[in-house]
Amino acid sequence: MCGIIGYIGNKSACDVVLNGLRALEYRGYDSVGIAYMDNHGASKVVKQAGRVEGIYPLINKANLQSHVAIGHTRWATHGSPNIINAHPHINGDGSILVVHNGIIENYLEIKQELTKNGYTFISQTDTEVIPHLIDYYSKHLGTFEDALTAALNDLKGAYAVAVITTKEPDKIYAAKLSSPLVIGVGKHNEYFLASDPNAILEHTKKVVFLEDYDLAIISRDKLFLKDLHKNIPKHPKAELLDYDRDKVVLGDFPNFTLKEIFEAPVAIKAATLGRIQADKGIVKLGGLEIVATQLKLIDRIVIVACGTSYYAGLVGEYLIEEFASIPVEVQLASEFKYRKEPFSRSSVLLTISQSGETADTIAALNKVKDYGCLRLGIVNATGSSVARLTDAGVYCHAGPEQAVASTKAFISQVTVLILIALYLSDGTNSYRKLLKELELLPGKAQKVLDQADKIKSIALKYKNYKDFMYVGRKYCYPCALEGALKLKEISYIHAEGYAAGEMKHGPLALIDKDFPTLALATDSPELDKTISNLEEIKARGGPLVIIASEGNKKITKLADDLIYLPETMEQTQPILSAIVLQLFAYFIAEAKQVDIDRPRNLAKSVTVE
Ligand code: M6R
Repeated sequence: MCGIIGYIGNKSACDVVLNGLRALEYRGYDSVGIAYMDNHGASKVVKQAGRVEGIYPLINKANLQSHVAIGHTRWATHGSPNIINAHPHINGDGSILVVHNGIIENYLEIKQELTKNGYTFISQTDTEVIPHLIDYYSKHLGTFEDALTAALNDLKGAYAVAVITTKEPDKIYAAKLSSPLVIGVGKHNEYFLASDPNAILEHTKKVVFLEDYDLAIISRDKLFLKDLHKNIPKHPKAELLDYDRDKVVLGDFPNFTLKEIFEAPVAIKAATLGRIQADKGIVKLGGLEIVATQLKLIDRIVIVACGTSYYAGLVGEYLIEEFASIPVEVQLASEFKYRKEPFSRSSVLLTISQSGETADTIAALNKVKDYGCLRLGIVNATGSSVARLTDAGVYCHAGPEQAVASTKAFISQVTVLILIALYLSDGTNSYRKLLKELELLPGKAQKVLDQADKIKSIALKYKNYKDFMYVGRKYCYPCALEGALKLKEISYIHAEGYAAGEMKHGPLALIDKDFPTLALATDSPELDKTISNLEEIKARGGPLVIIASEGNKKITKLADDLIYLPETMEQTQPILSAIVLQLFAYFIAEAKQVDIDRPRNLAKSVTVE
């Protein structure tokens, strides 16, 4: 989704900003722009619909020496992705230049008011009100800082903004509310600005995370911070990020989606590394140690997440209830915030997020801030907002996930949920067996990947169907939902996920020869019931692609196409099945020659509610 980069210092600001924007590209965007001050203190704006590369040739070579610049990648919310709606947005005389992430919820009212006062708008964006509003206050208030403060205090919604002005060409102003923004402190009189710290890690690890209602005034040699509400200065708290930016290279893979699917075995290993000792029956989660005593007293867990992370949460619900006997419910973050349900101090809010920047998930965390309950996170991106907002948590350690479709993150989230279920368990049930199985799982995941050619030939057989049904029971049910999501998002084919037992309560009416079903029918105590559901589909002429456990012969006669999974426990089946479903969706998308890493209309990090 939208990204912001800024730079002030001795380097070429345009270079730093454009490189930073490149680092944010994987998040998904549709247009890009940069604003900078030339050597005479005049402002320049270059923007276009399309990719960051396209901006370089448009910048006058002489201006590559500019020392102050802000840049933006836009993911359209208000108005289509075109050059006019791309950021930066400016006021009438081009003296105030703004890039913005988030959504200004009261922009229509502000726009009306400003229009009455003679302001003209050229874009359809909410952002454009910001430079005009600052301009308006500039005419009534003393300094630029006062005008900006007044304008920001009028805005409702979410924002991370960077502003430059010809009135003070040696400064960058930055502020945030419910949208991340970080300032990097460089070595030689320079500062960086980014909506994601990873994008500036190559320059500095010393950063100041802005808090809500902070206004930063950045010059080459000074960072001044103030609280917008109270209008009083604040001391900038710099911290050292203790992580490295993993080098993300494609290697021999044609795209990140396939690369990340093939990273499943490594993702499982990384999630369990140093955390389990199967022979001793030990699960150690360092990230939960500080809340270990509190965790003994909890009586309810509410898992909150979006998309694929939500489906991982549904697997977690079965796992934690079975192994730790703690009631769990899973809610969509985008709905959670509207509920007025009772939430006691002995409840835990467990958020799951690959990016750690999903606005709905952050809103859920903020909602329970004053409830006195524990707020935990399962997060992949180190140092992200969710990681920072939670009391404790467990990192996935899956490494950066670049493709918009989440693949290896699901694998590692479910692995971490298994660890948490075991960690909270008193060691009963199949505790030791599951722990042992976790050690074997990377090898089994590799065996699934070794079947990629077979899965590809089945996928190609089905590539022209317009609708798909995905079904499963118990641990396989969330996996069916996730499989359908994967197909929808990367191949643009309609797919629905259902609990197998629900088919005859309605969806069975859809089934005919043109509506294939991908059935998760791996070995479990419920398998016979699932088989009955599949018979019902078969009886209506629905083609069946079945994922079954190796050696299960019962299923052979039902399947039009059959993919075997290595024998594994019920609880780990979702991990192996997910790999099959990811590959199936991938090969259909590949056959359709779409942009698999960056599906249309989607963004990697969904930073607006
Ligand atoms: O970064 P998060 O895990 O919080 O993201 C949640 C969803 O936006 C994400 O899983 C989305 O559904 C993916 N595109 C699915 O592949």
